[in-house]
Amino acid sequence: MSEETLSNLLKEDRRFEPPPAIAENANLKADAYERAAADREAFWAEQAERLDWDTKWDRVLDWDDPPFAKWFVGGKLNASYNCVDRHVEAGRGDKVALHWVGEPVDDTRDITYAQLKDEVSRAANALTELGVGTGDRVAIYLPMIPEAVVAMLACARIGAPHTVVFGGFSADALASRLEDCQAKVVITSDGGYRRGAPSALKPAVDEARAKTASNGHTVEKVLVVRRTGQDVDWDDDVDVWWHDAVDGASADHTPEAFDSEHPLYVMYTSGTTGKPKGILHTTGGYLTGCSYTHWGVFDLKRDTDVYWCSADIGWVTGHSYMVYGPLANGATQVMYEGTPDSPERGRWWQIIQDYGVTIFYTAPTAIRSFMKQGREIPDKYDMSSLRILGSVGEPINPEAYVWYRHVIGGDRTPVVDTWWQTETGAIMISPLPGVTAGKPGSAMTPIPGVSAEVVDEEGTPVPNGSGGYLVLTEPWPSMLRTIWGDDERFRDTYWSRFSKQGYYFAGDGAKKDEDGDIWVLGRVDDVMNVSGHRLSTTEIESALVSHPKVAEAAVVGAKDEDTGQAVCAFVILRDEAGDGGEDIVKELRQHVRKEIGPIATPRQIMVVPELPKTRSGKIMRRLLRDVAEHREVGDVTTLADSSVMDLISSGIDSGK
Ligand code: WTA
Repeated sequence: MSEETLSNLLKEDRRFEPPPAIAENANLKADAYERAAADREAFWAEQAERLDWDTKWDRVLDWDDPPFAKWFVGGKLNASYNCVDRHVEAGRGDKVALHWVGEPVDDTRDITYAQLKDEVSRAANALTELGVGTGDRVAIYLPMIPEAVVAMLACARIGAPHTVVFGGFSADALASRLEDCQAKVVITSDGGYRRGAPSALKPAVDEARAKTASNGHTVEKVLVVRRTGQDVDWDDDVDVWWHDAVDGASADHTPEAFDSEHPLYVMYTSGTTGKPKGILHTTGGYLTGCSYTHWGVFDLKRDTDVYWCSADIGWVTGHSYMVYGPLANGATQVMYEGTPDSPERGRWWQIIQDYGVTIFYTAPTAIRSFMKQGREIPDKYDMSSLRILGSVGEPINPEAYVWYRHVIGGDRTPVVDTWWQTETGAIMISPLPGVTAGKPGSAMTPIPGVSAEVVDEEGTPVPNGSGGYLVLTEPWPSMLRTIWGDDERFRDTYWSRFSKQGYYFAGDGAKKDEDGDIWVLGRVDDVMNVSGHRLSTTEIESALVSHPKVAEAAVVGAKDEDTGQAVCAFVILRDEAGDGGEDIVKELRQHVRKEIGPIATPRQIMVVPELPKTRSGKIMRRLLRDVAEHREVGDVTTLADSSVMDLISSGIDSGK
């Protein structure tokens, strides 16, 4: 973000006070900040009481060996029990847990907590039958169908950490994740529906399985949900239909209580190197964080609210705010399989109207695309049920915030702009709907229990009105415990930059305004944010150089009106590839799709004769970003060869 946009942003002076009706009955009121500040651990212990523990903890936090935290030490619980059984036992078995809305219109299912409990129990029994034991990893590669939720909870129930891989990822991306966490079983489906047509998933699993086998890792079983009915290749030794294994299994299953620190799941996310990081979350602290924030930040009223988070289950938002948070809280929620604009552009608003959604959580990129289509579309629907709106995944620009509040929320709804990460597990910085006078574009302040700061290079807090790095200064229950199999990378990535102070380095830049409120500006490392999805520049570069015609590649995230950032690639072709042929750009885009997945497809690929490098050989992405964003190229004095930028610019101008 340029300095100019930044100062415009900070001049933003619109304020939206909490509506009195929400303020009066808010779950979290202003006193929570004081209570949390007075005794942070006691405050978190109070939040942990939201859960049912089989054995109570004897110590809230063990931070004796930082950065390796243990929360609620000695406590035992079962996450699946907390998300389903306890609601049934409390007499709320008939309450709808999921209003599932399929992609084909009228393909819907309402699932109550009692039904969910039975289904999760059957799936847990089936997984055990397939040989999955406590601690074994299970990969889940599914569309947004109820079985995805059931599969996650069934894994949690038997203490088998799941790793959900986004259905839009390629076979190669799936294979590298299967190998990294040594998954024993994969749960998938024949396919899913996308914009009215079935699209296959199982072939990618077959391909990934073959790939991992050639690298010496065996996936023992693949459990396949029949969703579309399309043809699939079948390996009798490995493949098992979900309906054969699960439907006939017993609905009786006694959940075992696991240690508070038992691994719950591994979620892969992009880092600054080519290899995705497996972020490890454990049970007690993570569930406490999700449950507390979902209740407090969205002001959930269990018996009257209808909640909807539009995120895919393949991302952390789907984990924390579609599965673990809402279900631990016994909420009724919508789960939608399709895209926002299929079969027509008002589909989301239709769903809000049909189900009387009261709390809606989505990403700025979606809001911007609706803004572009015009308010005539949402204006056709009655969305007066909405009372709170949430935003996540990237900075929300003030115009999008105001449009969201005004057009979707009818000016009644506070907008909670929630900052957090896969690593933080749960929301860290956000307005509170009953307390905070919201400023469009600002995530405002750390929520009660969380301590965040904006610091300079030395780790000293910056004064109000200045920018720096966003850090979390105290441990929190839902924090990542490590990177799967790589404690060293965990220390290096998050804890080495401000090791003197012991701060967690988030990788984001931020600014404190004159009131001390926080404005998150975006990544300060080689991670891009495209439509709210994290992508690593190096991962895409590795994909490009794995193409036989490419000698070198550099990737940058360039500002994009719709997607926040877009992938722009600069490639040098191998001599023998000549000019690469007419379709070289198309060929390379296709190659990246295959290697990583459609979300990583570069918006633009530029074939260049050279790349700008420092004397030590580091690519200066800053300069390439200038080119990609059509700006005058900045300071080139640290380049080994300063004429390189002229070469690049002239090549691009002449359309090469
Ligand atoms: C960005 C998604 C500004 C940020 C939950 C962070 C945001 C990365 C916001 C994490 C927000 C997320 N304002 N930026 N409200 N929320 N981000 O791991 O750069 O997919 O580091 O988690 O998204 O992305 P992740």
